[in-house]
Amino acid sequence: MALVTSTEMFKKAYEGGYAVGAFNVNNMEIVQGITEACKEEKAPVILQVSKGARAYANHTYLVKLVEAAIIECPEIPVVLHLDHGPDFETCKSCIDGGFTSVMIDGSSHSFKENIELTKKVVEYAHAHGVVVEGELGTLAGIEDEVQVSAEDSSYTRPEEVEEFVEKTGVDSLAIAIGTSHGAYKFKPGTKPQLRFDILEDISRRLPGFPIVLHGSSSVPQNYVTMINENGGKMPGAIGIPEDQLRQAAGLSVCKINIDSDLRLAMTGTIRKFFNEHPDKFDPREYLKPARANIKELVRHKLINVLGCNGKA
Ligand code: G3H
Ligand code: 13P
Ligand code: ZN
Repeated sequence: MALVTSTEMFKKAYEGGYAVGAFNVNNMEIVQGITEACKEEKAPVILQVSKGARAYANHTYLVKLVEAAIIECPEIPVVLHLDHGPDFETCKSCIDGGFTSVMIDGSSHSFKENIELTKKVVEYAHAHGVVVEGELGTLAGIEDEVQVSAEDSSYTRPEEVEEFVEKTGVDSLAIAIGTSHGAYKFKPGTKPQLRFDILEDISRRLPGFPIVLHGSSSVPQNYVTMINENGGKMPGAIGIPEDQLRQAAGLSVCKINIDSDLRLAMTGTIRKFFNEHPDKFDPREYLKPARANIKELVRHKLINVLGCNGKA
């Protein structure tokens, strides 16, 4: 299947009570690990690229890697999405450059400015057959070098969502209900709890409308331990409990963003490899098990968190 927009994917996910995984891609091994798992599990997938990924790997390389994955995995629908588009120009560059979906992240602006910016991106995107994700509310954590402290984060205000969606024309909406970016989402000892009351209120106000969750890594403790036992130092890294994400996927959440978990799997695997084989220096030897572990982690997410296996 060629590159698609998320319109059909989200409709099926909403009706089917599951979510599509949106995984961040930065290099070939990550693209391969994700798409091989999705191919074997017959799952639709969103491959997303941040501003930082474009700066690191180059727009053309990333697009071509995704095109290669589509040739290798013709059975599954793939969306190429811009993650956290910071401004109109970046969104335009991705729309012109082959993406089928973009996020304009106006969440740091005022409500009025967020509407104006998002509307401008929607008008350009829709005229080019591309869909748009907007955001209301602010997540804590780090994204594209911008750090938002827990005090400065704020839940989405349900009373704003109808006006935002109506005035902007966005195709999906990212909301803040307690998830956050990065590997340190909650203080050790606290009980992680997403605000399902806010999600349900938003869903009631926007019936049938696809909701997106950012910052949804679960920070698998086996990889945190692997990192810490092999020279790393990541004390107190805690993520979102998987059962809460599964619950959200059964409601109006149609897209769940996962990046940090892939990074932990890759870093843990490589650290362990180097610790066990200090004499090795061929990148293929340590990237191969890293790619394999990303694949198994994604398979686990598809089946146990997203519920989108067999839905391609
Ligand atoms: O939310 C941000 C994503 O995890 C992408 O991270 O900006 O470091 O590429 P990045
Ligand atoms: P995590 O840091 O929880 O993986 O979130 C990723 C994300 O939201 C990308 O936009
Ligand atoms: Zn995000």
